[in-house]
Amino acid sequence: MTQPVRVAVLFSGRGSNMQTLAQHLAKPSVAGEFVLAITNRPAAKGIEFCQAQNVPCAVIDHKAFDTRAGFEAAMQNALDEEEVELICAAGFMRLLTPDFVTRWHDRIINIHPSLLPAYKGLDTHARVLADGAKEHGCSVHYMRAEMDDGPVIVQKRVPVKADDTPQTLAARVLKQEYIAYPEAIDIVIKNLKNPKLR
Ligand code: GRF
Repeated sequence: MTQPVRVAVLFSGRGSNMQTLAQHLAKPSVAGEFVLAITNRPAAKGIEFCQAQNVPCAVIDHKAFDTRAGFEAAMQNALDEEEVELICAAGFMRLLTPDFVTRWHDRIINIHPSLLPAYKGLDTHARVLADGAKEHGCSVHYMRAEMDDGPVIVQKRVPVKADDTPQTLAARVLKQEYIAYPEAIDIVIKNLKNPKLR
């Protein structure tokens, strides 16, 4: 049996996608193992989950560093210590430098609450409503140097309803995020384990 792929999750707040990934990776049928969480926010709610589940969580406050490179070097150390092979960004609200993203090429993925390439950036739900779009959703994609760019792995669509607010729409999309991310991680792990696909 090959060893499970060692996965880290980056988060900045509530961490509900991280929890979904943790539950998924805990299944014996899944060829990955959740070995490390990293947050850049000391007050992130998701830290409580890590403590309750005994998942190692590195709190690396970006404000403690003068440069992005310094912050990322600290992240890289934590990743190296746990011999991480795959990074999943889930509500991680820091831009990563091209250096860092390139080093992790095809081994760092992200979830974004829109049907990429539409609605990159923040406040996607409000912008979708303002445009009167009929459809919205979420995407899990390989990270590239450009923000919210990179090949899409899984996308899930939801209808936009006439009486939606950004909150109701966000909740509908979030339910799909919890389905999309586990599906995507299975695909990525399979690709990592198959050298012919690399
Ligand atoms: C999710 O909607 C994710 O797509 C976006 O930020 C939100 C994070 O939620 N990037 P959570 O921290 O996973 O609960």
